[in-house]
Amino acid sequence: MKEKLEGLLREASAELEKAATEEGLQEIRVKYLGKKGELTSVMKGLGSLSPEERPVVGALVNTVKAQLEEAIDARAAVVREQVKAQRLAAEKIDVTLPGRRRPTGSKHPITLVTEEICSIFAALGFAVAEGPEVEHDFYNFEALNFPKDHPARDMQDTFFVGDQVLLRTHTSPVQIRTMLKQQPPVRIIAPGTVYRCDSDATHSPMFHQIEGLMVDKGITFGDLKGILTLFINQLFGKDIGVRLRPSFFPFTEPSAEVDIACVICRGKGCRVCKETGWLEILGAGMVDPAVYGHVGYDAELYTGFAFGMGIERIAMLKYGIADMRLLFENDLRFLKQF
Ligand code: DAH
Repeated sequence: MKEKLEGLLREASAELEKAATEEGLQEIRVKYLGKKGELTSVMKGLGSLSPEERPVVGALVNTVKAQLEEAIDARAAVVREQVKAQRLAAEKIDVTLPGRRRPTGSKHPITLVTEEICSIFAALGFAVAEGPEVEHDFYNFEALNFPKDHPARDMQDTFFVGDQVLLRTHTSPVQIRTMLKQQPPVRIIAPGTVYRCDSDATHSPMFHQIEGLMVDKGITFGDLKGILTLFINQLFGKDIGVRLRPSFFPFTEPSAEVDIACVICRGKGCRVCKETGWLEILGAGMVDPAVYGHVGYDAELYTGFAFGMGIERIAMLKYGIADMRLLFENDLRFLKQF
């Protein structure tokens, strides 16, 4: 009996040694310790032993059973580790491989120019103001001294949304909204999208402007010229020529158009400046007292100037872009250059 038990233990140990999977171990467990297992059948044979032998062999069976259980558990732990090691090896990833680069975007030239212009004026103490793109006739025309049926309204091909509601044709309504909200001193610039019913190689129905407004006691046309010259020199370079020509806008008096020396030919005359040597980049003027009447400013006490410019045109001149449509097509080959 004793030899038989020791033989079983040896046999089981040898099988355990070879078991490499959890299933294999389970089979061994059943084979030796299960209901119909080898050890169980030895225990069933205890009855045929003499009363003296029975407790001795019984104790031995228990010892062997405990040893067997311990050996199976120990092997199970080893097998689990092996299985885990195999899985780790199979699923291994090389964290030292270089990653795949995601293409990063770049800012649109319109955004770049807008930010640059805003930061130049911010340094001069101008705050950024905003207004809605869907605007009321009052702010877009009426308060800016465009009377009803005035021919100047035809200069701006307006998209009407309703009877008195329209897509703003310029950023000038932000002047009105700002003045209605605060008393002087005022120093703001207002970048934004504007709309006109016009579309060809040099016109887009949607484009961008930046408006400027400065109102205080004692502001003169000299201040207008000084600040705009400073701005132009920062944007296009110190030595660029600047000139003012008389012009007309309903909301400024006197009004001027501001030219810079052609950035392509430096004033000699070329196709871009139509052989004139000059490029028009903005409209400006002293705020018309009639506008102050609409916003409740004392025209006897305050004076000020306003200006407005198209951002697309400035971006085209600054970056040498020949066709405005490039700014709206969103061709990555174009945009990636900025
Ligand atoms: N709003 C004008 C336009 O869209 C541009 C302009 C001209 C704005 C003169 C001004 C200004 O503030 O003083 O054509």
